[in-house]
Amino acid sequence: MARSERVLVVGAGAREHAIVQALARSPRRPELLCAPGNAGIESHARRLEFDPEDVVGLVAAAADVDLVVVGPEAPLVAGLADALAGAGIGCFGPRAAGAALEGSKAFAKEVMAAAGVPTARHSVHSDAGEALAAITGYPAVIKADGLAAGKGVVIVQDEAEARAALGALLVEHRFATERVVIEEHLSGRELSLLAVCDGERALPLASAQDYKRIFDGDRGPNTGGMGSYSPVPDIDGVRAAEICREVHQPVLDELARREIAFHGVLYAGLMLTADGVKVLEFNVRFGDPETQAILPRLRSDVLELLEAATVPGGLAGVELEWAPETAVTVVLAGRGYPESSSSGDLITGLERVPGEVHVTHAGTARDADGRLVTAGGRVLSVTALGPDAPSARTGAYAAADMIDFDGRQLRRDVAKGVGV
Ligand code: AMP
Ligand code: GLY
Repeated sequence: MARSERVLVVGAGAREHAIVQALARSPRRPELLCAPGNAGIESHARRLEFDPEDVVGLVAAAADVDLVVVGPEAPLVAGLADALAGAGIGCFGPRAAGAALEGSKAFAKEVMAAAGVPTARHSVHSDAGEALAAITGYPAVIKADGLAAGKGVVIVQDEAEARAALGALLVEHRFATERVVIEEHLSGRELSLLAVCDGERALPLASAQDYKRIFDGDRGPNTGGMGSYSPVPDIDGVRAAEICREVHQPVLDELARREIAFHGVLYAGLMLTADGVKVLEFNVRFGDPETQAILPRLRSDVLELLEAATVPGGLAGVELEWAPETAVTVVLAGRGYPESSSSGDLITGLERVPGEVHVTHAGTARDADGRLVTAGGRVLSVTALGPDAPSARTGAYAAADMIDFDGRQLRRDVAKGVGV
């Protein structure tokens, strides 16, 4: 296997910062680059001013790089992994044909049906009237069939809400989609289970839970994610491996039957229902903010793991070692998020955060005087580890409260009641 001495991480969020921090802990001390990165990432990685979706620019910039690790989904759906493969550059992240699992919900449903993976019953429509007629009861779930940054799912309680949602999606075309998926509403506990895949085999990472809504008690609009913790108490390594055999591995096998070799993270958003585990969605990349809680617990060398996944069958015999502690991540978002984002507000107090707390940057920048300021919706994530969830939670909130900026928003209930 090629040894990666120089690694380029693509993306600009706290997830990419967590990946860069984990790579910086590798005993092999790789040289790290990040495109485009942010004001926090630059302390570990040299920044390259490329947009993550500038496939041609990134391939040229990666000419002397051994491994490219792609954070967000959009470049994968746009074919970045294909272009890198064409240039003979190793890439952690699937090619476009595999990334369609996230890019098209209809494709993901079709693959799940062929693979026998449990998921909510659904139908696909391009006509609003037909879609409405397909709803057999309320609440019902309406999803845009395309990338919508976590904001393309609406849970409707009655016909009036369904009409309004279908109008926004199929008549006003609020997202770039011609089709919607109508889905049966599932209830239960949600879980994120990510598996690293080498085209043949899926190796589960530690379980995590994500907090998607903006306000405490899961109220308000969906966001990119306001907090997370890992592991989920009753989803230990044994249970994670069982779920992986039931969900991730059959999907990987089905893709392989279609000659799609999936290298990268297959992220399953799951609902633990009374009838067992069901898939809500697949993503084809690390989760944000799950990654900020998962990677600080990984004791194995992340560089060896990511490299192994780029080689067919490379994960054979790989076993991951995890810290027994719980990690809790709290996201600090800016004023107006998720409807709008603000920038230019001075961020203070970071120097007071204890060294063992992991702070990852998302929307941050330097002003003309070199001071750290906000630059977008989610600004920072704060992750603390502790012997159990309550102590990790105490550590994460103590650190989060040392950091301040105008308009700061955070949820107060991340990991609340877990493990008590
Ligand atoms: P997705 O982007 O498909 O994961 O959906 C975003 C969120 O919508 C999920 O995290 C769930 O909270 C909710 N959701 C999606 N599909 C369903 C479903 N079939 N039943 C209930 N809630 C759902
Ligand atoms: N945490 C949800 C996501 O990464 O899509």
